[in-house]
Amino acid sequence: MRSSCRVLLLTALLNCSGLAQTTATPILTLDLTKIQGKVSPILYGLMTEEINYSYDGGLYAELIRNRSFRDNGRGQPFHWFIYETGNADASMAMDTSTGPSAALPISAAVTVRAANEKEQAGITNEGYWGMRIDPRTTYNGFIYLKASSANMGPVQVSLIHNSNGEVLAHTTIPAITSNWKQYPFALTSGASSASSENRLVFSVSRPGRIWFGLSSLFPPTYHNRKNGNRIDLMQTLADMKPAFLRFPGGDYLEGSLIDNRFQWKKTIGPFEDRPTHRSPWGYVSSDGMGLLEFLEWCEDLHMEPVLGLYAGYSKQQRVQTEKELEPFVAEALEEIEYVIGDVHTTWGAARARDGHPEPFALHYVEVGNEDYHDLSGSYQMRFPPFFQAIRKKYPQLKIIATTPVHGEAVPDVVDDHFYRTASQFFDDNTHYDQADRKGPKIFVGEWATIEGGPTPNFNAALGDAAWMTGMERNSDLVIMSCYAPLFVNINTGGTQWQPDLIGYDAMTSYGSPSYYAQVLFSNHLGDEIPGSHLESAPVRFFYSVTRNSKSGTMYLKLVNASDQPRPIQLQILGGTSISQTGKRFLLSARSPLETNSIEKPRSIVPVEGTITDISRHFAHTVPPYTIEVLEFGTGR
Ligand code: AHR
Repeated sequence: MRSSCRVLLLTALLNCSGLAQTTATPILTLDLTKIQGKVSPILYGLMTEEINYSYDGGLYAELIRNRSFRDNGRGQPFHWFIYETGNADASMAMDTSTGPSAALPISAAVTVRAANEKEQAGITNEGYWGMRIDPRTTYNGFIYLKASSANMGPVQVSLIHNSNGEVLAHTTIPAITSNWKQYPFALTSGASSASSENRLVFSVSRPGRIWFGLSSLFPPTYHNRKNGNRIDLMQTLADMKPAFLRFPGGDYLEGSLIDNRFQWKKTIGPFEDRPTHRSPWGYVSSDGMGLLEFLEWCEDLHMEPVLGLYAGYSKQQRVQTEKELEPFVAEALEEIEYVIGDVHTTWGAARARDGHPEPFALHYVEVGNEDYHDLSGSYQMRFPPFFQAIRKKYPQLKIIATTPVHGEAVPDVVDDHFYRTASQFFDDNTHYDQADRKGPKIFVGEWATIEGGPTPNFNAALGDAAWMTGMERNSDLVIMSCYAPLFVNINTGGTQWQPDLIGYDAMTSYGSPSYYAQVLFSNHLGDEIPGSHLESAPVRFFYSVTRNSKSGTMYLKLVNASDQPRPIQLQILGGTSISQTGKRFLLSARSPLETNSIEKPRSIVPVEGTITDISRHFAHTVPPYTIEVLEFGTGR
């Protein structure tokens, strides 16, 4: 505040004295003759875990909720209900004595006391706060069924609109047997318009007993992946041009107890072999988004995986000794082998059996998550065995620690996390400016401005943008960064943590102002950091500058988090030819509390324009509450 008063006072004095106002305007010098460092090519990436229904009910396109019948209360499966028309009569109970596989020894037993062709009975699934059904679209699914006798007749499969009962799509599974069997089916919708007010129904027309086991129903997915992802959300992520994906957490990696950590071996192979697990975020994960699906997600968006390895520490439990740690170190090595081993290795062969013979490209692994929460300090004991084993078997990998480690096991990178208010980010914009360059590199593996909900407001986007200028300026040291959490299902009960970058329901999705700030930052990034200096920096004003060394394109990011326009004088030193015109991208709001929402998804979006008066010395004004990128040529 004090320095802005000083600038205003000086401006007033200069005006009174008749001198040009521009003399008091802050001068931002960009010096291309003094390159300060290289920009990390993987500076911007994504962090993800199963929280806020990020995969189930989110990115992972499965439409059936509780498809494995693992999520139950009082003998009844959640999200499944009895379906009866007319005078049909049926009841349902969980049966833990029979199921389609050893990993899923559970089913819903439905007793049909009365049913006929016109009055059907069965079960219905409500989806994840609805089921989006589009016109003229094919949905592929399957269900495991078993009947008390071979006379049960066919099973009808229908997608039905909740309020008007319209049958949107229908097919028939022919007669079922008294043994568990998987029945594939396809449902093709008619011309009715898209809606998420729908449910799936399995029904029969004869009395008897029928067991319903694991089922699945998928809409078309991104890149037509089997067991794949929602198209709109993948496109939203693709627009961020992320360089990497940090997975599978977060707390989700650790679990509350050792047994409900992310047990990667239980997340691969057919769904029948995935027992599901209760995550630390309070709900059962289908584990449809398993290790291979994470990797394929990386492949689809050209990201490199940053693989989080369980390190013997869960939120409420941890291993006590090095001996107890050994199986977890072995499990981590096997996991890496699943990712990068060739098909002649045990786990590379398993990956090939799962449908992906080609090894994935992996450069970074992270040992644990937020181990500074373990106040016993046991990470100092737990990290070295992982470090040594990985270094020995995979010397090419860079190893990330979640907190500094003393002794000989020196990590290549340390992961720093920041959840802060916008003011805290403004005040700490220079956090890495003087940091030690001789130690490990920095990965800002979770960060966010905590303002707004379920998704951040514009003030949060300003805090984020200010923080990103600091990371860019120090990108020789801060080699990677990713915002967290990434996703939120905005329905009641869908949110465990807020704010989150991208919101959605069953029907649609939107990016928050913070999302668009990241799109702007990661889409306009050079590979080198020119020297720069801002004289008399106004309050709540931040900047970073990078340049593409091959094309000479300069990317200047300017963040005005104040309610006043900020005039600056730009001065460019070096560069062979400064283009007179360039591109200007503006992300602005009238008030810091403005935001985007599911109802108003595009209130705040970047606007592209041109800037026509660029020269070696030019005046420029950044509007209030604005995140701006100037892109212009400086010659090769
Ligand atoms: O991003 C939400 C949680 O915050 C992560 O799971 C955890 O690592 C951090 O504490």
